[in-house]
Amino acid sequence: NWTPDSFVETTVRELQDQLGNDKVVLGLSGGVDSSVAGVLLHKAIGKNLTCIFVDNGLLRKNEFEDVLHSYENMGLNVIGVDAREKFWNDLAGITDPEQKRKVIGRNFIEVFDEEAHKIKDVKWLAQGTIYPDVIESISVNGPSATIKSHHNVGGLPEKMKLKVVEPLKLLFKDEVRRVGGALTIKKELLGRHPFPGPGLGIRILGDVTPEKVRILQEADAIFINGLKNWGLYDEVWQAGVMLLPVQSVGVMGDERTYENTVALRAVASTDGMTADWVHLPYDFMAKMSNEIINKVRGINRVVYDISSKPPATIEWE
Ligand code: XMP
Repeated sequence: NWTPDSFVETTVRELQDQLGNDKVVLGLSGGVDSSVAGVLLHKAIGKNLTCIFVDNGLLRKNEFEDVLHSYENMGLNVIGVDAREKFWNDLAGITDPEQKRKVIGRNFIEVFDEEAHKIKDVKWLAQGTIYPDVIESISVNGPSATIKSHHNVGGLPEKMKLKVVEPLKLLFKDEVRRVGGALTIKKELLGRHPFPGPGLGIRILGDVTPEKVRILQEADAIFINGLKNWGLYDEVWQAGVMLLPVQSVGVMGDERTYENTVALRAVASTDGMTADWVHLPYDFMAKMSNEIINKVRGINRVVYDISSKPPATIEWE
C-alpha cells in the first residue's frame, strides 16, 4: 500500500545503500520535482549532496535570490551560479524557437558541468525526473518530430560521465507533491506552477535581449502576484506573459507612442497535454492591464489569450 511516508522511508534506505559515502550533484530549478528530489537526497546522504542552481538570465523576477534562500532555509548545500551574461550573449540574434532551446540547453550543460567538476570526487548525477518525463522523452526522441525538444532530460549524463540516480522516476506529479508534503516542504513551493526550462527565452517572441527580459519580468511579476493576491493562483494550472514582437500606437498626452504588446495566458490542465484558457474575472483582467501599462515602461497594450490546446500550445514558441 503506497503512502508518501512509506515511499520516503523506503527510498531513503535504498539511496543510502546505493550511494554509500559517494558524492552526488543535483541541478535545482526552483520547480517541484528537483526540490523534492533534493530534500529526499539530503535526508538520505546529508552533506554528500551538492546542489547547483543556475541563473540563466531567463528566470522570473527575483526568482534566483528567492529560490536560493528557500533552499538554504531547507538546509540544502546549494551553489548559485550567475551565468546570465553567457546565456544572453549566446542567444543574441537568435529567433528560431528550437534554436533558442538548443542554445539554452547547451549552455546549461556547459555551466553545470563546469561547476559540478569543482566538487571533489563527485560520482553521481541526481535528477528530478518523474514518470511522465520518461514517457515524454521517449516520444520526443521518437518519430513524432512535432513535439518540442525539452532539455530537462538527457544530454547531461553523457557529457559528464557520471552515474545517474533518479529517485522520483516512478512517480506522477501528484505523488511527488505528496512526497514533498511528507518531507515538510512548504505548500507554497509544492503548489508552484510549472515553468519551462528555457524560461522567459521562449516567452519573448523573436530575439532575446536583456532589456526585453527586464520588461517581461516586470509584467510577469504583476500578473503572477495579481493571481496570488486575488486568490486565483491555485485555480490556474499554469500562467505567464508573452512579449510579442508587435508594436502598436498609443497616446500619451499630446504624443503618439509606438510600444510593445504583451499577451497574458492562464490555462487549466492536468498534464499540459491539453489545456483550456481560464475564464478570469473581468475586474481582475482590467486591474492587471492597467497595472502593467502604467508600471512597465515599454508596454502600451495588453491582450488575453483565449485559445485552447489543441491546437494552441501553452507557450507561444
Ligand atoms: P506546450 O507549449 O507544448 O507546453 O503546450 C506544455 C508544457 O510544457 C512546457 N514546456 C517546456 N518545458 N522545456 C521545458 O522544460 C521546454 O522547452 C518546454 N516547452 C514547453 C510548458 O511550459 C507547458 O507546461
